[in-house]
Amino acid sequence: MKILVVGGGGREHAICWALSKSNNVSRIYAAPGNGGIEDIAQCVPINPMNFEELIAFAKNVGVDLTICPMDAPLVAGIVDAFQGEGLTIFGPNKHAAQIEGSKSFAKDFMKKYSIPTASYEVFEDYEAAMLHVVNSEFPLVIKADGLAAGKGVLICANIESAERALDSILNKRIFGASGKTVVIEEFLHGVECSMLCFCDGENILPMTSAKDHKAAFDRDYGPNTGGMGVISPNPHYTRAVSLRATEEIFKPTMEGFKQEGIDFVGVLFVGLMLTEDGPKVIEYNCRPGDPETQAVLMRLDTDFLDCMLACVHKKLDNFKLRWKNSATCCVVAASKGYPGEPKTGFEIYGLRDFGKDVKIFHAGTKKDKDTFFTNGGRVFNVVASGKDLEEARETAYKTMNSIDFLGMHYRKDIGDLTDMDTFAQNILAIINKKRGDNIVVDM
Ligand code: AMP
Ligand code: GLY
Repeated sequence: MKILVVGGGGREHAICWALSKSNNVSRIYAAPGNGGIEDIAQCVPINPMNFEELIAFAKNVGVDLTICPMDAPLVAGIVDAFQGEGLTIFGPNKHAAQIEGSKSFAKDFMKKYSIPTASYEVFEDYEAAMLHVVNSEFPLVIKADGLAAGKGVLICANIESAERALDSILNKRIFGASGKTVVIEEFLHGVECSMLCFCDGENILPMTSAKDHKAAFDRDYGPNTGGMGVISPNPHYTRAVSLRATEEIFKPTMEGFKQEGIDFVGVLFVGLMLTEDGPKVIEYNCRPGDPETQAVLMRLDTDFLDCMLACVHKKLDNFKLRWKNSATCCVVAASKGYPGEPKTGFEIYGLRDFGKDVKIFHAGTKKDKDTFFTNGGRVFNVVASGKDLEEARETAYKTMNSIDFLGMHYRKDIGDLTDMDTFAQNILAIINKKRGDNIVVDM
């Protein structure tokens, strides 16, 4: 089969790599791809939001299956556009992608189907939102309703910071139309866990667990990023937690989709907070996470193409996933300035084949002859596999230490189990030390 992968990040490189191992894949195209993807797929310079060009390309070369793991094209209806032309594509349609495209839609859905999540209220009016805030407990979480490039979540320590957040989102519209509505919700304490789940519109099949590290710097300090590293499995996602999540979250989510006429086909990302009261949903995303996908796919022992075809052909009910009995640790190398304005264009030294236990998935790289240069905020991912987390971490960091570019930075504490709940602890420490200061933590 000929496959077209839409995107050009580390997640898309991992997907191309997983597909390249399938006997049934004859050709992989990536739009636009990146310097690393070039080695295993043909990169075509088409913008993922240009559906017309993507469709024309897919028809032209006879693509059998397209996969779109990116949120913006999914929310904008890439699946509807492809299906309208009779093309097969893996991903949720525009209606189903609303589960990520609108946080108030997702929260109302969870409330209706009794899916555990933080308590919340939705506002469009600034005065009404402020009235709610003055009667709330802190910290408080304020979220712009729509997509905001991962920046639309603000954690507020007190009334003043909440006022500033609401003014920025609702009045000043710093997130544009995505901030027409806000969700204000309770701050949840616990350990986060990312669950990627295959869905075929009728059935939901959770993959193995993962743990992202979202803050830019060690011990969860600094601004929020798309993700600086992931471990899989997540040691906090025990068998008992998994049973509860299945009964209280995954099954009711799919049941709710069906009741609402939401035909969700693709990967549903369920962001969980493992709290003292059990797992609760922080968010749904309509696509696989980045860098969760990189760490999870390296442990997948089933043909990835078969997984996607089972979803597209609505045959997940008897489908079984096999996982390697290993742990993976994915560490992201980022450019100086990321997640703000990254400085790019620097040569990357030390990239090579590191053997079967290590994969380098490129994100922001470009290739000029045989040399790789930095070309984005998150530059590449080192994903190492080991018999346990300790071994995987050791290999990942040993590998990372042998690669370099000007301004490269990466977190040194990915998978450090002593630091699992540091984000919440850091927020509380800041609040306790500096009560009265205006604290807004961008997420
Ligand atoms: P979201 O975009 O909704 O995933 O939020 C981004 C990040 O903000 C999450 O991964 C959490 O780290 C944090 N966050 C969001 N909502 C909450 C909440 N209710 N309580 C605590 N942390 C939260
Ligand atoms: N790593 C988090 C995300 O993909 O949203």
